[in-house]
Amino acid sequence: MNRKTRNRRFNCLLLILLTVWIFTISDAAVSSSSTSSSEAVVGYGYSIQSVYADPSGKSLTADLQLIKPSSVYGPDIQHLSLTASLETKDRLRITVTDENNSRWEIPNDVLPRQSHTPRHRFLPENHYSSRRHRHFPAILSHPSSDLIFTLQNTTPFGFTVGRRSSDDTLFNTTPAHQNPSTYLIFKDQYLQLSSSLPIHTSNLYGIGEHTKGSFRLQHNQTLTLWNADIASASLDVNLYGSHPFYMDVRSPRGITHGVLLLNSNGMDVVYSGDRITYKVIGGMLDLYFFAGPTPEMVMEQYTDLIGRPAPMPYWSFGFHQCRYGYKDVYELEYVVSGYANARIPLEVMWTDIDHMDGYKDFTLDPINFPADKMKKFVNTLHRNGQKYVVILDPGISVNETYPTYIRGMNADIFIKRNGVPYLGQVWPGPTYFPDFLNPSTEAFWSNEIKIFHKLLPVDGLWIDMNEISNFISSPANPSSTIDNPPYTINNAGEQRLINERTVPATSLHFRNVTEYDIHNLYGFLESRATNVALAKVTGKRPFVLSRSTFVGSGKYAAHWTGDNAATWKDLAYSIPSILNSGLFGIPMVGADICGFSKNTTEELCRRWIQLGAFYPFARDHAAIDSTHQELYLWDSVAATAREVLGLRYRLLPYFYTLMYEAHITGIPIARPIFFSFPGDTKTYDISSQFLLGKGVMVSPVLESEAVSVKAYFPAGNWFDLFDYSRSFSLKEGKQIKLDAPPDHINVHLCDGNIVAMQGEAMTTQAARKTPFQLLVAFSSKGNSSGEVFLDNGEDIEAGGKGGRWTIIRFNSGLVRNKLILESQVLNEEFAMSQKLVIDKVTILGLMRDFNKIKGCDLVTGMRMIDGKLNAKVRENHNGFVTVEVSMMS
Ligand code: GLC
Repeated sequence: MNRKTRNRRFNCLLLILLTVWIFTISDAAVSSSSTSSSEAVVGYGYSIQSVYADPSGKSLTADLQLIKPSSVYGPDIQHLSLTASLETKDRLRITVTDENNSRWEIPNDVLPRQSHTPRHRFLPENHYSSRRHRHFPAILSHPSSDLIFTLQNTTPFGFTVGRRSSDDTLFNTTPAHQNPSTYLIFKDQYLQLSSSLPIHTSNLYGIGEHTKGSFRLQHNQTLTLWNADIASASLDVNLYGSHPFYMDVRSPRGITHGVLLLNSNGMDVVYSGDRITYKVIGGMLDLYFFAGPTPEMVMEQYTDLIGRPAPMPYWSFGFHQCRYGYKDVYELEYVVSGYANARIPLEVMWTDIDHMDGYKDFTLDPINFPADKMKKFVNTLHRNGQKYVVILDPGISVNETYPTYIRGMNADIFIKRNGVPYLGQVWPGPTYFPDFLNPSTEAFWSNEIKIFHKLLPVDGLWIDMNEISNFISSPANPSSTIDNPPYTINNAGEQRLINERTVPATSLHFRNVTEYDIHNLYGFLESRATNVALAKVTGKRPFVLSRSTFVGSGKYAAHWTGDNAATWKDLAYSIPSILNSGLFGIPMVGADICGFSKNTTEELCRRWIQLGAFYPFARDHAAIDSTHQELYLWDSVAATAREVLGLRYRLLPYFYTLMYEAHITGIPIARPIFFSFPGDTKTYDISSQFLLGKGVMVSPVLESEAVSVKAYFPAGNWFDLFDYSRSFSLKEGKQIKLDAPPDHINVHLCDGNIVAMQGEAMTTQAARKTPFQLLVAFSSKGNSSGEVFLDNGEDIEAGGKGGRWTIIRFNSGLVRNKLILESQVLNEEFAMSQKLVIDKVTILGLMRDFNKIKGCDLVTGMRMIDGKLNAKVRENHNGFVTVEVSMMS
């Protein structure tokens, strides 16, 4: 085998493409629609008065006129304005709102958007030389875009969004004949929009946050969005976050698009299978369509709008231990040493509200968690390469002797009702809630974090209870329909008033924005303020874990799935929850390992760490009244934890590179299988397995006493990551039965992938010092590839300007019977300065006739150690050989 080192620099070719957008608004001669005005359906809905083309040719606006008022949920808005625009070639936006009065919209600094001003509202009539349309359907399209918008002049009117290349209808709001429940309804506190869906080809994912048994949305259900402190152990009800986004994967080819209804008000989304109907209690209709056509491209297009996920520090990929109910600093020390003694890696120790003095944020209990002992504890963690994270709740204790409260009152930053701060009840008793919409609150919050950080140098912050959770329900204001709107969403699965156990909807935020409108954004706003504050205070990449989220939260925070239970069902449900969070643009996500409420068992905890070791965010957390569940407490759990966390730590460069990819493209770390195999329709309904990146398949045991697992694998060669000699080849996708003895989880790598790994260690800091190894899963079909992103793991920006990072892309294939492994290096200086080495390359999947291969070029961007290379060829049982190329010392 020859050794030849070639170090190819990546020539960065900057292509600036100036695309000239010419949009066409075409007058297709006469409507071909089957419903003509003469057959008009009498009922609600709107008819088109006129249609205008924007002179720039980029958008189309229609005036809509109410046909007949309906008798429910308050008066209808008579005149609406609809605007459709192709904002990019992959993104179509459609807004429908009151033509004459402005309505609540998500602030532009929360989610920057292009202006979509209806023509008439803000500009004088003669400002436009608009072209008025008389013929229908009116079409908005552009040759470069696959999305086509069509306005149908039916009575009531409807619009469709189609895909040019496949002639598929993606969304169709043309009302069903004489079925008012499918009509557009627009009232002050009730907006209804309904689209038919092709029941046999459409597969929907998303719309959350909910705990679901199935990742693919089942037909005939109502999905309610209203952020609430409801334990995630409850199935199908609204939980902590709101994400009115879905991905639609169309059978059989897997052509995918995404749809977002950007609206922060409470809503029910009724999904029947052949129809999706939004019933929203405020704001406006602001719809976005993302063209795909692959799931990955939908994620890129979606996060291009809502913001790319925040980069996460390297250490956050280590293992985390938390518990509600640690009694004192000695118990924290005891747990840390428990992990060390058991040789189980522990990266981050956490404390819940227990460390606080009377549950007051930014304080330490002087008896059980005194400042001097806590400082010593945190310093020791830091010396050992470990980290420390604490919780913060939004509720500030109302207490005249509490400096944070006094500063908050002086800055006047609390949410108000009836002119005074709204008084709620959370852990410390009576509390006020900071209004994160108010710019002064950011300064207040940042200052509190700064003061606390001086007291205790925490590495990250956990923001909880930010739905907002309130232990009391204040009476509704009887003279307002805000606290008690005419349409009751299915809050908590029982049409609970929206005011229950949260801040009342009539409370006011900055500039008199009602809680009614901003409620679902509270966690987002707190995440943003906390992220900004941590970055300022520490000068490092922030780690913020938030329970409550909204569209775009991934820009600032990681997420955990909340209060699950130590049950086998909740173990299984964690997979759809984690995949959903990825679709929502929050890829750093995990569920409480071993279960939060209820008592776990040795077997459940063992199976849970086997799965949890492959969550993007891996934290063991338990409730105060549950038995202890630190991994070292049972021998069998400890042994399995060493194995699985061992693999996780070897895969750290892979996890970290996936984080970087998520940050740059929005494509999640943990992915549904159809992301890599969209043409395999059997992957569409899988809720019990997932992929890390493109090619690492995790197939956990989710049932008690099982010693095998039935798992689906698409066509390909799959290699067991715990034992490379175990592999199987599938010509077509198949469900297979894999051994899963109590101490084993199945994790396989698919051919075509190259994974950069490092050695095991007790901390990520130590693991980063070990040599790299490359695992090449050779593909006979073509090249294998993979990449690794390297930086110091804590710079605020990941891969930003300044160059303290390197990306290496590896490629491998056969060229004239010669195995080639080569790399392209972008910004090699960082890797060179770190003196990174690859000491072993393992090639999986070569056939027995490997001897015929003349040689192997090993080319990497990292320094190959000098000396002779040693190639070992091992025969496996399945026709493959494993080739290990390493250094002879
Ligand atoms: C909430 C959190 C949980 C935490 C508890 C006490 O229930 O979801 O993780 O342990 O509050 O702070």
